[in-house]
Amino acid sequence: MHPIELRSDNAAGVAPEIIAAVAAANVGSALAYGGDDHTAQLRELVREVFQHPEAEVFPVISGTAANSLALSAVCPPWGSILCHETAHILRSEGGATSMFGAGAVMRGLQGERFTLQPTSLHAAFASTNWGDPHHSQPSVVSLTCPTDMGTVYRVDEVAALATIAHERGLRMHLDGARLANALVALGCSPAALTASAGVDLFSLGAMKNGSLSTDAIVCFDPAVSAQLVYRVKRAGHVASKMRFQSAQLHAYLTDGLWLRLAARANQAMAALAAGLREMGVTFVVEPEANMLFANVEQHAAGSLAAAGLLFYEMSPGVIRLVTSFQTTDADVAEILRRAAPVLTAS
Ligand SMILES: Cc1ncc(COP(=O)(O)O)c(C=O)c1O
Repeated sequence: MHPIELRSDNAAGVAPEIIAAVAAANVGSALAYGGDDHTAQLRELVREVFQHPEAEVFPVISGTAANSLALSAVCPPWGSILCHETAHILRSEGGATSMFGAGAVMRGLQGERFTLQPTSLHAAFASTNWGDPHHSQPSVVSLTCPTDMGTVYRVDEVAALATIAHERGLRMHLDGARLANALVALGCSPAALTASAGVDLFSLGAMKNGSLSTDAIVCFDPAVSAQLVYRVKRAGHVASKMRFQSAQLHAYLTDGLWLRLAARANQAMAALAAGLREMGVTFVVEPEANMLFANVEQHAAGSLAAAGLLFYEMSPGVIRLVTSFQTTDADVAEILRRAAPVLTAS
């Protein structure tokens, strides 16, 4: 029985269009460190796609680099970063944000649907001794969209949180490791969920959705971008052959490729979730993008694994299933076929 991949969209391969773009960029020589035409064209495209004339883009090698370097530019060492208690930056990035933030504190807050709510921010503000050097000063709010639990902030939710953050002088960051999946789920424009909603800077994920070796930081504030130039370099994230990263991102954002790839992943998840629901499986929270957390007893999880399904058991009784741009309708049908005898019986 061939294994079927549901561990992570990181496990997927590279979209053929991205490989083709890398090959097409492999002609002759070009100035190193981003002084090439591909990087200039990428900057223009990012400005167009996110409808912001001053947007800057910084290709980096991972989502962790994008998040931690972006946050370091908007949080002083004495500051704190407010995020959901389940946020990737807090739980799964090895303290990278604290390191690049020169000791900045990360505060995990509670909120329904694994999202921050206005009440989450109001409570954090109320429990802060503002201006007291004994206390880290809230400096930036970081949202993860989609969240690490597969839920998606609505545009008006992001805008409301940004207003609250900005009123107190905080900046607004978005971890968009799966931004395309969120945009497809919401059916909104890239600008609506970012610049227009009050996001100051964000991580543009591409690797989980078909790129070969690059994610990026996108920043709308020129003063912050001016800092990022140095921060990204000092962290070792300015690739000498940046043209190949830029070519990937350019292809990714051209003609909606990123949205088509994400739509496939989301559609596969919707079909998978519907099939599991029919078998009586319950979910920790309704999946809204391409990630699902299902309540499955340990013995049943063992049987699913034995049936060749690759997934993570997150805690006893909860498994995580992730679809990608490579998950086909046939894969979903086969997953459900193998799962049926296990889950309908359990
Ligand atoms: C929501 C989210 N943010 C950031 C990252 C970090 O990406 P990377 O593993 O490339 O550092 C991930 C990776 O899984 C993620 O799921």
